[in-house]
Amino acid sequence: MRDLTAKRVLITGGGHGLGRELALQFAMQGATIIVTDLDLVRVESTVEYLTNAGHTAVGYRMDVSDPVSVKAVRNQVRESVGSIDILINNAGVVFGGAFMDVPIEKHMATYRVNTLGPAIVTHAFLPDLVENSEGHCVNIASAAAMIALPNAATYASSKWAVLGFSESLREELRLNGHGHVGVTAVCPSYVGTGMFAGVCTPRFTPMLTPKKLANQIINSVRKNQEQLLTPWLVKLIPLGRGTMHRSLFRWLCNWLRVTTSMITWNSKPPQPTVEVPAARVPTLPPPKRTRKAAAMAVDESYP
Ligand SMILES: NC(=O)c1ccc[n+]([C@@H]2O[C@H](COP(=O)([O-])OP(=O)(O)OC[C@H]3O[C@@H](n4cnc5c(N)ncnc54)[C@H](O)[C@@H]3O)[C@@H](O)[C@H]2O)c1
Repeated sequence: MRDLTAKRVLITGGGHGLGRELALQFAMQGATIIVTDLDLVRVESTVEYLTNAGHTAVGYRMDVSDPVSVKAVRNQVRESVGSIDILINNAGVVFGGAFMDVPIEKHMATYRVNTLGPAIVTHAFLPDLVENSEGHCVNIASAAAMIALPNAATYASSKWAVLGFSESLREELRLNGHGHVGVTAVCPSYVGTGMFAGVCTPRFTPMLTPKKLANQIINSVRKNQEQLLTPWLVKLIPLGRGTMHRSLFRWLCNWLRVTTSMITWNSKPPQPTVEVPAARVPTLPPPKRTRKAAAMAVDESYP
């Protein structure tokens, strides 16, 4: 999709970090931006920022893990700005820590937002992309979609799924005669948005800036690039995995400090509460608050 002027671009998680930067940069190309996020305050702040700068933007609160919320927003978007041309599945969460130290609710939230989210949102909006003369779907995966990431096992696997989803969807669209809809899977290493605060970045892999990454993503859409692996070392992961003996590849990942990068992760919200619909919460009597239970208790600010 060479020309982005007047294209309608919907971004999930567009209220903060990479999503907000993508909103700004697509707007600067003359696109109409539909900002969506779980956090309404962030939606309003991004829309205000864009409109004050003279761009065209609307915003909606949308929880990517809730099909009802997504369907409702899709109907509103069609009424207000029409069918979208570009969908960016960007919303994501991470809960770092040793697998057993992280409450299961957080692991489940990771899959709900990072893996089910792109499927739910794409299911709702793909007909829009197909009905237009050209369309594009960008799925923000991660370098962790191709490599082991201790202390973020469910995050990494949630992104492996996003990569598999992107590859399969692209081929399915092509087979079904919808080759005018491109799919790009984005696999960046760490980006300086706060989501991975405290991590020790791997050797030769400095923290990416949201600005530079957003720029690369826009170029990928223009060129209909299937994958964006960045920075350069990430491009070598598939080759290394495919050709090296497992023990050598493991040694290399250790030496590059990929394997240990998450040990110092200490990000705190701005990750919003991922709400569990009331109907799905079983009404059980409150458990007795023993000292052990208190230690294992789920942080109330998380799902
Ligand atoms: N930051 C990194 O180092 C990095 C690296 C690789 C990939 N990524 C991926 O890039 C994407 C953007 O990450 P970021 O660093 O900008 O994170 P961020 O935390 O700055 O922004 C994520 C946004 O998603 C929103 N969100 C969370 N749950 C949601 C839900 N259920 N529905 C709708 N919106 C929701 C949040 O409110 C937030 O505004 C994520 O998918 C992330 O996994 C990030």
